[in-house]
Amino acid sequence: MATLAPHQPAEIAPTHWGQGTLSDDDLSHIPGEKGWPIVGHTFTQLADPHAFTRRMVETYGRVYRVHSMGGWNVAMVGPEANELVLFNRDKIFSSTQGWGPVLDQLFPRGLMLLDFDHHRADRRALSIAFKPGPMRHYADALNRGISRRVGQWGGGEMRFYPAIKELTLDLAADSFIGLPFGPEADRINQAFVDMVQASVAPIRKPLPFTQMKRGVDGRAFLVDYFSKETRRRRAEGGGQDMFSQFATAEYEDGSQMAVDEVVDHMNFLMMAAHDTITSSATSLLWLLAKHPEWQEKLRQEIEAVTGGLAGDGTVRDLAYEDLGKLELTDMAFKEALRFVPPVPSMPRRALREFEFGGYRIPAGAHVGINIYHTHHDAEYWDDPWSFDPMRFTPDKVKARHKYAWVPFGGGAHMCLGLHFAYMQVKILLAQLLPRYRVELTDGDPDWQEWPIPKPKDGLKIKLTAIS
Ligand code: HEM
Repeated sequence: MATLAPHQPAEIAPTHWGQGTLSDDDLSHIPGEKGWPIVGHTFTQLADPHAFTRRMVETYGRVYRVHSMGGWNVAMVGPEANELVLFNRDKIFSSTQGWGPVLDQLFPRGLMLLDFDHHRADRRALSIAFKPGPMRHYADALNRGISRRVGQWGGGEMRFYPAIKELTLDLAADSFIGLPFGPEADRINQAFVDMVQASVAPIRKPLPFTQMKRGVDGRAFLVDYFSKETRRRRAEGGGQDMFSQFATAEYEDGSQMAVDEVVDHMNFLMMAAHDTITSSATSLLWLLAKHPEWQEKLRQEIEAVTGGLAGDGTVRDLAYEDLGKLELTDMAFKEALRFVPPVPSMPRRALREFEFGGYRIPAGAHVGINIYHTHHDAEYWDDPWSFDPMRFTPDKVKARHKYAWVPFGGGAHMCLGLHFAYMQVKILLAQLLPRYRVELTDGDPDWQEWPIPKPKDGLKIKLTAIS
């Protein structure tokens, strides 16, 4: 358990990418490694983040320090650490200052980058976009868009990752912004992709021809577009899409958000939704292609609920009301999220000194929890490297540590769009599995693990039409 230290500094100044503030001496009582001069362990860690964590945990235990990305970080590994940091009962950990160095330049003031009272007020206002009414509307848009595209895929070989990435972008234009497919949606999608790539670019200044410059230009375009559209939708009334919900969202006292806040929330939301859904849909399809017996179970479950293929070759929609009936599909998706969590680790900054695992961790420390490692920890998971959706039966879930499975985080910042993610992935499978059998053509792909996992070869699969 954490205990608070009596001395609590009033304020911790924010840091920027590559600019830690704690000295070697501040953390010398915590075991760990400094690595190479200047770069520390940055490149070792980026080359294979999971192997690096495994080695550090085996060598030093579940709390260790590492010099990486320009400063000291304290890693805290395991469900207890996840609970302490995510539940954040004593408000020790700042998400603003944890994520800020990575995301502040391109996604400032996004919901995940706010703390405490400001965060709570904005989250409450934005939650309106995830109530059953709007969700039902998104379900219709998803059924429409997914059915058309999956039908066009036809049989044969394809790379799944780029195909689902493109589809997810097009779906976002429809259900998030209310735009039909077309040149305007394409321009927005491109600006958005440029921003996401820039957010993890190694060169952090927007110099000509760099990713960062493209990202900053993309942001300027989107800020302009969303600002004008917020005013227009407020004046003329918006549609049922997510952006219109955000534009007209109200605080508890009935006031509306400032336009620039709506814009920042919208930019962040698109980023939070996009690569995470793409990554998790890909890992689920990979695992189902590898395990045809599970693919068949899910196909049967879906056909029993929706009716599957219609006589005219189309596939029936998955109704919003029926999402809860796909229990095996739900468990298979949870298992894919365990196997390949789209957000493998989460950063925070300690605003006060605290104790954990027998160590005193000073105020100002950048701390990180490791989801991937927890999800494969043999102490909490039998045979952690095997694919077994039955780990997620209600009894098994109840018997496990609540923070042993946290792909969507937990506590105040728990993913706001998690039901949307379940919905999109279930509708995708409801359209895909009754139409096609899925196989891998080149065996298991290599995964790029960071920042959001993706198969390096795009995941080569073969779809065989089911007549
Ligand atoms: C499988 C897909 C997804 C995964 C694994 C995922 C994961 C996460 C995680 C781990 C966090 C919390 C990070 C932290 O506490 O440091 C988060 C926050 C968030 N996610 Fe997701 N996400 C997914 C899909 C989505 C979608 C589809 C949306 C929107 C439609 C979305 C919107 C958000 C927002 C707005 C936050 C910030 C919440 C807050 O700070 O209060 N996410 N997500």
